[in-house]
Amino acid sequence: MSQDRIKRIGVLTGGGDCPGLNAVIRVVTKAAITQLGLDVYGIEDGFLGLIRNRMRRLGMDDVSDILTRGGTILGTSNKANPAHFAVGKDTEGKTVFEDVTDRVIEHIEERELDAIVCIGGDGTMSGAADLVRRGVRCVGVPKTIDNDLMHTDLTFGFTTAVQTATECLDRIHSTASSHHRVMVVELMGRNAGWLTLQAGLASGSDVIVIPEIPYNLDSVCATCVRRSQKGKRFTLIAVSEGASQKGGEQVVDKIVHDSPDPVRLGGVSTVLAEQISKETHLESRATILGHVQRGGTPIAFDRVLATHFGFKAAEMLAEHKWNQMAVYRNGAVDSVPIESVANQQRTVPLDDPLIAMARAVGTCMGD
Ligand code: F6P
Repeated sequence: MSQDRIKRIGVLTGGGDCPGLNAVIRVVTKAAITQLGLDVYGIEDGFLGLIRNRMRRLGMDDVSDILTRGGTILGTSNKANPAHFAVGKDTEGKTVFEDVTDRVIEHIEERELDAIVCIGGDGTMSGAADLVRRGVRCVGVPKTIDNDLMHTDLTFGFTTAVQTATECLDRIHSTASSHHRVMVVELMGRNAGWLTLQAGLASGSDVIVIPEIPYNLDSVCATCVRRSQKGKRFTLIAVSEGASQKGGEQVVDKIVHDSPDPVRLGGVSTVLAEQISKETHLESRATILGHVQRGGTPIAFDRVLATHFGFKAAEMLAEHKWNQMAVYRNGAVDSVPIESVANQQRTVPLDDPLIAMARAVGTCMGD
């Protein structure tokens, strides 16, 4: 890799997809070609493309007309961490992991990539931080519907997911009211309650349950009964997939054995709806929103934010500002070292104003 002028970059999207990935690929590729005179290679399926040496040259036509498209034209993988990559199974059927970083470095050198733009969440940034330690120049762009990356107030994709989840909650609100039911709606977000808190507030949910505040079943049930006694014969509950009962455990949907982060949460809404039915005799139903929250076109805000982040990444390439990730803080785009973001999650602080706002409008926060 040359020390001064860079000629060729790679771009990858890693981890779970979200709306806005294509908007970043578009601006990075266009700015790199037209303003910096660089060749751009699109790496397929995140770090898997570097492990398997799968990438293709991107031209202006390849990134035309993709701004509004959901998902990622490059593909992604949330299983391909080069430092901990599943290479097969042992005789007892257990997944065997190996560090394949050397292979990744070989492929980067063979393709003459002078720097890599890594668009992803904490898993992708920890993969990038490992590469940085091996001398690869990386630039990071923060994505995730969970909004749980350190040092950034927002990740792109989050606000679109809030919008999608709010629309779903609104729809469930009307059927809850017609049937006089308790409707428990489960949102994604892993261990962070940002998505549930914002969509819960936006939809006027009566109860919002987030991982940061373990729920007290008696309080949740009392809220449902109180509403019913007041003549409000339904209750809308927004619950995070990572929520748990006080003194209880998170509900795990499945273990993905070949993933470096194998736990997939899911099912707490079913547990909570059954608990409420049993305790209150109110008819209760659970809905898991699932991957609908990750799909579809980004809303205008995320198109602009993703473009801003991608433009910042291009600026960092131009300025040779290596190993930094773009962040959005106090209304402005800036950057922080990738290493400071790796392997960490930003959860909702208990003194977050959104929690106080929810309580002020009479929402039960589950406690
Ligand atoms: O991190 C994004 C996310 O959608 C989480 O909210 C969720 O827990 C997880 O990914 C689901 O992962 P998968 O797509 O592997 O089911």
